[in-house]
Amino acid sequence: GKGNYRHFMEKELHEHPGVIGDTLRQYVSPASRAVALPPLPFDPRVVPRLTLSGCGSAFLAAHVGRYWIEALARIPCDADVASELRYREPPFAKGGAAILVSQSGETADTLAVLAMMKAQGQSVLSVVNVPESSMAREADTPLLTVAGPEIGVASTKAFSAQLSVLACLAIGMARARGTLDGGTEMRLTQALLAVPEAAAAILEQDEEIRALAHEITRARDVLFLGRGAMFPIAMEGALKLKELSYIHAEGYAAGEMKHGPIALIDEAVPVIALCPSGPLFEKTASNLQEAAARGGRIMAFCDAEGAAALSRFAERVVVLPSVDPFVAPILHAIPVQLLAYHVAVLKGTDVDQPRNLAKSVTVE
Ligand code: M6R
Repeated sequence: GKGNYRHFMEKELHEHPGVIGDTLRQYVSPASRAVALPPLPFDPRVVPRLTLSGCGSAFLAAHVGRYWIEALARIPCDADVASELRYREPPFAKGGAAILVSQSGETADTLAVLAMMKAQGQSVLSVVNVPESSMAREADTPLLTVAGPEIGVASTKAFSAQLSVLACLAIGMARARGTLDGGTEMRLTQALLAVPEAAAAILEQDEEIRALAHEITRARDVLFLGRGAMFPIAMEGALKLKELSYIHAEGYAAGEMKHGPIALIDEAVPVIALCPSGPLFEKTASNLQEAAARGGRIMAFCDAEGAAALSRFAERVVVLPSVDPFVAPILHAIPVQLLAYHVAVLKGTDVDQPRNLAKSVTVE
C-alpha cells in the first residue's frame, strides 16, 4: 500500500535513501568498505568497447554510466536508446560487451538489443530490478538493483539504484584496469557511501522544491540544462516533467544552448539548471548567465560552494548538500523527480498513471 503517502510515486521518492543504501550494500564490501563486484562475463582489463543501452529513464542511467566508465575506467563506451540501437548496424568489436539497464527487465526494445548483442558475440551484463525477469535470466550476468517493487509509472527509486550499481561498476572496473590510484578509489567509494544520508537531507527540502514547482506550473515549456554527467540528469528532469505534468520540457547540454535553443529563451520559459561544484561549474554558470542576460528565468540546483555565484543572476537557487562531484548526478536526480511530482500534483494530473503510458513497455 501507499502508507501515509498520497501517491505511490511520493512513497517511492521517499525510498531513495533506503534503496541506494541497500543497493550499495550488495556491491561494497562491509569489511573493507571497497567495491566488490561479482565475476563479470568479460575481462575489464581487455574489453575493447562497452555498449550501454536501455529505454527512457533506464537509458538515462546508462548514459550517466557511460560518463563514469569512460572517465574512471578509460574503456571506450557507446550509449544509445534500445529502440535505435536495435536497428543501427554498428560494427561490434570482438570480445566487446553490453551493459543493459532496465527496471522491469521486460522492455521489448531492450530485450531485442540483448538478443542482438548475443547474436553478435558480445557478452551481456544487465542492471535489472526484477530478479525473475527475462533480462535477469537471459543476460550472462545480472547485477540486481535492490529497489523493491516500483508501482508508479514514473521511475524514481529504480533510477537511483541503477546509478548506484553503475557507479560501483565504474570503480570496480577502474581498479581492475589500474586506472585509479588507491586514494582516489577510496575517496570515490566513501562519496558513494555518503549518498543515502545526503539523499535523505534532500527529501527534507520538499517545501522548497514545492515552492519551485509553483513557479513552473503555468509554463508551457521548460528547459533543463546540465553539463557532463549532469546532462543525462537534465534529460531525466525533462522526461519526468513531460511524463507527469504534460508540460513540454527539453533536457539540453548547457554548452549547446548557443547553437540554437537559446533562441527559445524568454521570461515564459523557465530554465532549470543542474550546476553542482566541480570541474564544469564555471562553464555551466557562464552558459546560464548568457541565458539570464536574454531574459531567461534561471532556477538553479547547486551546492553551498556555488550558491553565491549563481545567485547573482538566478531567480531561485536550491542549495543541495555538498558532495563529491562524482556522486552529484545521483543526488540531483532526486530534486528534479520531486519537482515533476509536485508540478503534477499542483496541476492535478494522474501522478501514478500518467495518460497514454504503461509501467512496462513489452511491445515495440
Ligand atoms: O522497465 P524499464 O526500466 O526497462 O523501463 C524503461 C522505460 O520505459 C522507463 O524508464 C520509462 O521511461 C519511465 N516511465 C520513466 O519515468
